[in-house]
Amino acid sequence: MHLGIFADATTAAAAAARVILEEAARKPSFTLGVATGSTPEPLYAHLRQAHSEGRFSLENSHAFALDEYVGIAEDHPERYRNVLRRELVGSEKTGLTDELLHTPDGSAADPYEAAANYDSLIKEVGGVDVQILGIGADGHIGFNEPGGSLVSRTHVEALAAQTINDNARFFDNDTAKVPSRCITQGLGTIMEARTLVLLAFGANKARAIAELVEGPMSAYWPATIMQMHPNVVIVTDEAAASNLKLTELYNERWAMAFGN
Ligand code: F6R
Repeated sequence: MHLGIFADATTAAAAAARVILEEAARKPSFTLGVATGSTPEPLYAHLRQAHSEGRFSLENSHAFALDEYVGIAEDHPERYRNVLRRELVGSEKTGLTDELLHTPDGSAADPYEAAANYDSLIKEVGGVDVQILGIGADGHIGFNEPGGSLVSRTHVEALAAQTINDNARFFDNDTAKVPSRCITQGLGTIMEARTLVLLAFGANKARAIAELVEGPMSAYWPATIMQMHPNVVIVTDEAAASNLKLTELYNERWAMAFGN
């Protein structure tokens, strides 16, 4: 695990962008796993900038979202497909095409079947090269909430009360408007991505980051499964890293891998 602790979200996101650009340059048919929520926004800004400078393109790439709300209206601005369209799709963004942006079908008559189909599609295109991740205050990645299977495949999930409260800010601060179910890539699915890049900003992520990096592996803190992945890059601001014990070691390991 490589952990980079930065002064602020913009600098941390720049470091994450460098990892993604390097991986993309290495592979002609690069597939990116994309997250939503507030955390990846500065990273997507860096990717758009790199695209505008001709240093990065998702033009022929598949992109797979981590998750989607079940039952959300197709034209709702917070439907994750719509969020990702705004952030990434089009030649003026990252070159990603709408056809190659894949999101779980939260409007499907049978969301369980939609979840299974989504999992199969990821495999069919050869898997995800780099998976971008945020983390919930309760330690979820994707929407894998506490107490689920550590080897789950893409599935229908119930959102925890903590997540509904946290996400109410996207829904007029009204928890009743936050969808209570979603389709999410499972932890087993996420773990098959070749590189995991997780970003975390703010003091409300400090406990989850401490559990992820230094805690015991446990379904109660789902992100701890990442301890079993051979290729993990985590970037945080100082607030999100504030509960960690061995920061000097992490800084040294980061410098060894990526320079200062
Ligand atoms: C979103 C996702 C979630 C978020 C997490 C953090 O696609 O999979 O795991 O990354 O809930 O959300 P923010 O970034 O809004 O704090």
